[in-house]
Amino acid sequence: MKKVRKAILPVAGMGTRFLPATKAQPKEMLPIYDTPAIQFIVEDAVEAGIEEIIIVTGRNKRAIEDHFDSNFELEYSLEQKGKTEELKLVKSISDMASFAYVRQPEPLGDGHAILCAAAMIAEDEPVVILFGDDLVFNKDGKNAVQQLIETYEETGDPVVLLEAVRPEDTSKYGIVDLEMINSERGVIKNFVEKPAPDKAPSNLAAVGKYLITPELIRYLKKTKPGADGEIRLANAFMEYLADDKSIQGRILEGSRYDTGDKTGFLKATLHVASERGGEEARTAIKEFGQ
Ligand code: UTP
Repeated sequence: MKKVRKAILPVAGMGTRFLPATKAQPKEMLPIYDTPAIQFIVEDAVEAGIEEIIIVTGRNKRAIEDHFDSNFELEYSLEQKGKTEELKLVKSISDMASFAYVRQPEPLGDGHAILCAAAMIAEDEPVVILFGDDLVFNKDGKNAVQQLIETYEETGDPVVLLEAVRPEDTSKYGIVDLEMINSERGVIKNFVEKPAPDKAPSNLAAVGKYLITPELIRYLKKTKPGADGEIRLANAFMEYLADDKSIQGRILEGSRYDTGDKTGFLKATLHVASERGGEEARTAIKEFGQ
């Protein structure tokens, strides 16, 4: 089985749920306490053994490229001032992995964004897909990308990371019908895009982290745009299942936050602040809660 070496991060969406903050800057660069959201996603990928990060960008996303690039002036100035800790921190970001960028000329859907990067993936190569919004924290356990890769290595199938959501929230997600194989994973029997609670086959939702195989990419290439003109990864999954091919669902371990949503972003910030901010931050959070 081919080692999973690459991850595609499609971040060319409009970020309409986070206006006005995202009018002129990418939502993926908004800091979760002290670190841009996208850096957490890249760190998980690197920790899971991914060597090449392919970021699909669009308008207003320049800051992402600068963040993962080296910054000569800043490094020089930190060196001159003897700020060695800060220098190490800044350098470690650009040294994490090899970064490549592809531009999606128009926001024609998440599936279209992935296809913009397809030329950088070999014909026989599996690839991890990480959307920009969902952060998973699983201190001392396997991170979300490790969970995806583990299930892929066990089965050889595409993998969708799943989380049980509140029944009233099914209409925000792709929802699956899952036949459990063990406590961690199951085989997906059906995938329904954003069903109303009474139409949902379960409350297990796809959370923006996937592992796709060369065969699934071939399906994506054939997927037609929907009525809104967008090509979606979810439709490729549906067509794959319709041909009786198997996709695994992995139940995620850890706490997940949708940082594309204002409350989810706030919760993620509080999570990281309480872990990194020490007593002072924890007291501030408590005081606020009273
Ligand atoms: P979302 O559906 O969450 O859309 O995209 P969005 O535009 O980012 O956010 P809102 O809903 O308008 O606030 C899922 C993922 O696919 C990317 C997004 O950047 C996100 O990571 N995407 C979506 C693209 O790269 N291109 C697209 O055309 C659409």
